[in-house]
Amino acid sequence: MNEAAPNIVAGFDVERARRDFPALAQEVNGAPLVYLDNAATTQKPQCVIDALSQYYARDNSNVHRGAHALSDRATVAFEDARKKVQAFINAKSSSEILWTRGTTESINLVASSYARSVLTAGDKVLVSAMEHHSNIVPWQMVAQTCGAEVIAIPVSADGELDMQAYENLLDERVKIVAVGHVSNALGTVNPVEKVISLAHAAGAKVLIDGAQGVPHFAVDVQALDCDFYAFSGHKMYGPTGIGVLYGKADILNAMPPYQGGGEMIKTVSFAGTTYNELPYKFEAGTPNIGGAIGLAAAVDYLSGFDRSAVAAYESDLLAYTHQRAANFEGLQRVGCARQIAGAFSFLLAGAHPSDIGMLLDQQGVAVRTGDHCAQPIMKQFGIPGTARASFALYNTRDDVDRFFAALEKAKTFLM
Ligand code: ALA
Repeated sequence: MNEAAPNIVAGFDVERARRDFPALAQEVNGAPLVYLDNAATTQKPQCVIDALSQYYARDNSNVHRGAHALSDRATVAFEDARKKVQAFINAKSSSEILWTRGTTESINLVASSYARSVLTAGDKVLVSAMEHHSNIVPWQMVAQTCGAEVIAIPVSADGELDMQAYENLLDERVKIVAVGHVSNALGTVNPVEKVISLAHAAGAKVLIDGAQGVPHFAVDVQALDCDFYAFSGHKMYGPTGIGVLYGKADILNAMPPYQGGGEMIKTVSFAGTTYNELPYKFEAGTPNIGGAIGLAAAVDYLSGFDRSAVAAYESDLLAYTHQRAANFEGLQRVGCARQIAGAFSFLLAGAHPSDIGMLLDQQGVAVRTGDHCAQPIMKQFGIPGTARASFALYNTRDDVDRFFAALEKAKTFLM
């Protein structure tokens, strides 16, 4: 352990937090696991595992309208989960919180419902050039059907949004702006407040992809004034298969339903069907009840920390990683924005990222390699992909040291 930087930093005790995550206490390929694939999915604290297990062991039942105790319990826990998420992101009302399968489905919902109903030929959707495919392709699919265009906001060689170019692109044909809060591939924290206010001044609505934001810092959707905010449970210590779409109530109310089925209707007849109120209008079919309850446990878990202390701890860890990287021969950082959270993308001279990943795994260090579902920015940088170490609140300077030691060893095979 590096003495100058103890693992207890201003109100956050990482060693204590680590004990909450059973998966961290294992060996992989004969070495203690160093888990640095958190931008893809985080490990789960015991309280989330227990919440899922308790729901399935005791309360498992379908929600709403069940005439029995188990259904009542499941319904109360499911709707309480929605209220917890509302408080977590400071939405005005719990009816503005829609359950989805994850960020991808949240964005598809907005594209299929909102975008499809407002876009006409010649309209534009602006996304940044560093977006994840899930914040590009759904807009393209809709744009194709109505003659609209999806245009990329340029990104600098450092991986920052070109705000001047963005302002120049904003005209009356721009109806939607969709930008990631934090880039999964580069770690860039985008100036979303400015993105949102400029879009609104030009008359466009804004969706923020918060999949990589919510795990790292507190988000207040009312302060941001975004129209939509999307995130996933599994990247913030919750279960897979559950996510959230926040939308302003007046916009959601005016949108057509996304999928048809049970729950989303008020009345059904062959003469005409009427739709349910928010949020149920957008929740056709049996929801992921256990997932919502597990996500609420993750919200409780995160809310139990001083989130600004955790954010300060994580940014210190990233700064330490950058400092070590600067002295590592042959290593090239990919993405050097002034504000970075979560991800550290890199290349080693002469080595293919997937070989780096394999050699690190052999030493118990888990990273991700490839294009990170962000082919346009990889293409702009002229690379097929990167190796990416991504951090969560339970990572330590020891993990970073182990990562660089493993990388040093990998280098002897690669160069
Ligand atoms: N989109 C996830 C990532 O960045 C899978 O790793």
